[in-house]
Amino acid sequence: CGIIAHAGADDAVGTLIDGLERLEYRGYDSAGIAVQNGSGIAVHKRAGDVSEVRDEIQTAASSGDVGIGHTRWSTHGPPTDENAHPHTSDTDNVAVVHNGIIENHAELREFLSDEGYEFTSDTDTEVIPHLFEHFRKQESETIAAFRRAVEELEGSYAIAALVRDEGRVYAARAGSPLVLGLDDGQYYLASDIPAFIEHTRDVVYLEDGDVVILEPDEAHIFDENGLSVDRSGERVDWNPEDVGKGAFDHYMLKEIHNQSTSLSKTIRGRVDPDEGKVALDELDPEILDGVENVHLVACGTSYHAALFGARMLTDAGVRARVFRASEYAKMAGPTSDGTLVIPVTQSGETADTLSALRTATERDASTVTVTNVVGSTAAREADESVFIRAGPEIGVAATKTFTSQVVTLILLSQKIAAELPDASPREDLSELLAALEQIPNHIDHVVETSRAEELASRLLEYDAYFFIGRGMSRPVALEGALKFKEITYEHAEGFASGQLKHGPLALVTSQTPVFGLFTGEDAEKTVTNAKEAQTRGAEIIGVGPADGPGVAESDAYLEVPDTHPVCQNLLANIQLQLVSYHTAKQLDRAIDKPRNLAKSVTVQ
Ligand code: G6P
Repeated sequence: CGIIAHAGADDAVGTLIDGLERLEYRGYDSAGIAVQNGSGIAVHKRAGDVSEVRDEIQTAASSGDVGIGHTRWSTHGPPTDENAHPHTSDTDNVAVVHNGIIENHAELREFLSDEGYEFTSDTDTEVIPHLFEHFRKQESETIAAFRRAVEELEGSYAIAALVRDEGRVYAARAGSPLVLGLDDGQYYLASDIPAFIEHTRDVVYLEDGDVVILEPDEAHIFDENGLSVDRSGERVDWNPEDVGKGAFDHYMLKEIHNQSTSLSKTIRGRVDPDEGKVALDELDPEILDGVENVHLVACGTSYHAALFGARMLTDAGVRARVFRASEYAKMAGPTSDGTLVIPVTQSGETADTLSALRTATERDASTVTVTNVVGSTAAREADESVFIRAGPEIGVAATKTFTSQVVTLILLSQKIAAELPDASPREDLSELLAALEQIPNHIDHVVETSRAEELASRLLEYDAYFFIGRGMSRPVALEGALKFKEITYEHAEGFASGQLKHGPLALVTSQTPVFGLFTGEDAEKTVTNAKEAQTRGAEIIGVGPADGPGVAESDAYLEVPDTHPVCQNLLANIQLQLVSYHTAKQLDRAIDKPRNLAKSVTVQ
């Protein structure tokens, strides 16, 4: 879901609709806006595309200088016009947009129904406008009513509300992101900076418990105690071009191509191959004092990056385990102040990962998050943060951020190994760091010479697609399959190559091509496992260096430069990103906004 709000001299409608289009990438199935105009609050909302809301508004010719907008990703109730936000009180006196979940919505709904409020949607959100209206009848000041309404809510939320004839936006956050954008005489509020980046780069990250009032010429922030506060602003170094598509057909393709640039930023100033040293200046080394073991927690693509990181740590003699963040509370067992927990999260807002981070903090573990977003909830709640510096990623399917996460984790793993008494950085660290410095060039080469598009055109008619890898190429196999299923909607699975014969081989036929990750130190064994599938009729698509093992055995082959074995895996992943992209394109899929998925899932 995404929120945008605006108060200022410019017409709010255009700003809101543009903002919603910028937020589309977060994944949504309905959209809407509410603006304050001469005749009260005008609401336009519907299931479907932002462009449909835009068409509706153009027909209705709404305008106004203060407004709120929302893209919805359904949780409570299907995507319908009624369930789209904004939601209003039955007298249309207030309109509300909301991200997150109201856990006590059932009790509140019962209470409000008894009070005579009529519900018109299935959403948990609809309790908020009614509650606000309920307290407005009791309080002389709107802010007091808003605060009382917010105090009744349990769960996580970012809320923005309009009140008839007031010309203000009221907003609150608890557990869901909300950022204030400040421009000369214009104020913006959004769940994510890209929503207003074309207007301003000056932002204030709001904190949990904050309540905000936006007026066309002023913004006021109150903390959880109701005291007026002056939160310091920051200037983000993202450019409006970063959030545009440029000459590319899709954001995903742009982001695949831009990986040489984004990865250069990840690495800049952090590696010294001559000295065999890693510098991560933002990390206070004291956090590593007394660390005995490491837990990495993550979801989706970030989980695959975490697998890679864990392997780097164990190779360096550090005890490391990886957990799916949603399982961490149950699975981790006891932690101690000797446990370092590393939440890996592109957005820094994934509810499952934040919950694991909070579990770690409750259990006295120290925490270092690896994230892309400065000011994100993970960055603020973890003891320390290491930023992957990949810049904004718009495509729902993560590409450049995976590459930057993996490289950041490689660096962090060596830093940790250098500090821990029983561990030591890799013996070939200088060679690895030198190879990392070369990867941006290698990425450009892979992107320019890839034969993925031509391969994709042959791959459209199969039943299922398997990806196998071993050791450090296993996370790449898992990530390759995840990317493929996310954007092509075809059945794809990734396996540890040695496990194929223990079950999945029963699925292998001439209709199930197998991608073999013939990269890194374990390539030869994976070739053997791929041949087991080939014998059962499967086509083998090898990914590896030009003279690597498996070239002769493969029915098709995607080349990567013959660099350090660790880095080969990253380059193989880029070939697989291109395979997924071109297959999805030929199947005419919604590549940047795959069905049912959201970029950042802020519910557990
Ligand atoms: C969602 C996205 C995935 C992403 C995962 C974790 O499921 O669709 O692409 O990998 O969240 O996101 P994070 O921001 O925590 O890395």
